Amino acid sequence: MKRESSWGQRLGKAGDYFRDGDLTGLAKEARRFWAWKRREPFVPQEKPVVSFAPQERKQVQDLGPFDGFLRFQQGAFGENHLIAQYDPYLIRYGEYRFTLEMLSPQPGETILDTGCESNIFILYLAYLGCNMIGVDLNPQVWDLLRERKERVEAETGRDLQVDFQAQDATQLSLEPESVDKVIAISSVEHMFSDRGPGDRLAVAAMARVLRPGGLAVLTLPMSNGGPFHESPHGDAGFGAPYRLYTPEALEERILSHPELETVSLRYLAQTTPDPCYEDLGFFRFWMESLTEKERAKWAWAVPILTAVFNPIVSREEGEKRLETVNTALICLCKKEKPAGRGPDHAGK
Ligand SMILES: C[S@@+](CC[C@H](N)C(=O)[O-])C[C@H]1O[C@@H](n2cnc3c(N)ncnc32)[C@H](O)[C@@H]1O
Repeated sequence: MKRESSWGQRLGKAGDYFRDGDLTGLAKEARRFWAWKRREPFVPQEKPVVSFAPQERKQVQDLGPFDGFLRFQQGAFGENHLIAQYDPYLIRYGEYRFTLEMLSPQPGETILDTGCESNIFILYLAYLGCNMIGVDLNPQVWDLLRERKERVEAETGRDLQVDFQAQDATQLSLEPESVDKVIAISSVEHMFSDRGPGDRLAVAAMARVLRPGGLAVLTLPMSNGGPFHESPHGDAGFGAPYRLYTPEALEERILSHPELETVSLRYLAQTTPDPCYEDLGFFRFWMESLTEKERAKWAWAVPILTAVFNPIVSREEGEKRLETVNTALICLCKKEKPAGRGPDHAGK
């Protein structure tokens, strides 16, 4: 009944446009009609393609420690939504959320950010009172990072402890066991070296500088179900050196360091909360149907869109539907030294 009256109204409108000679209005009504005619009838599926775990629903409403980061971003940078503009792929906020949940950063801790670039996450950890060491191969990233740091300091009235060092994270010059925690957000996949596989070397360098019991959070791009991909000079897919991982490649190259044990491996996996649409549907709409300008209008909603359409899923769920998995979220812990194995006991 409702539909009839609504189509009655549409017909009336079309009549008005016709009477007024408004061709644009008539064309609009014609497009509406054809879109309605061509629509796929809704066929309920027997089994939901993906169902939202109650835990995921909760994460959308209650962003936990991540909420503090969003408030920090808003407070210091207002409507600029820096992360949403930097990352149209709805990945970064998920990576930062996982990192905060795993790391639980505490004031006074020394945290190393490898491949920190100019992003504000390092500034947020410094704002929480951590002593941050930011390492990046590219010394120029400090220009923008310093500018942003000064802005945060001016807005908050706090001095941020950020020691930026332009160096190669595959051969860190920091002292052994000198940092409490390490983060590497979408950076290790870009690390290459003449001395061997750059990602393994970066993990080994982290293991060396972490104190026993210290945590490392790494996030890495996945191959969406394809084979492991390594491009030391960049290619048509991405213009700089990078890798795309599979679960097996993660196991071999990242998770198998003898001094590190895996605390958590989870994934970001494209998902729809509505079983009548395919998992990648929203992502295609977001990236292919919208222009950059249109996406920018929704920047304020990107943390929520990320949590809904590219949520954190368990290792088991992600590996069941690898074609939707775009990012691995990993937390490692440096093993404690076995009791009685200090230098005094050598050879006993
Ligand atoms: C995608 S960006 C990292 C983004 C950043 N972590 C964030 O939170 O948005 C990758 C960074 O890794 C840096 N990088 C690449 N190879 C490196 C290496 N061997 N050592 C240190 N940094 C490296 C690049 O210069 C670049 O700034």
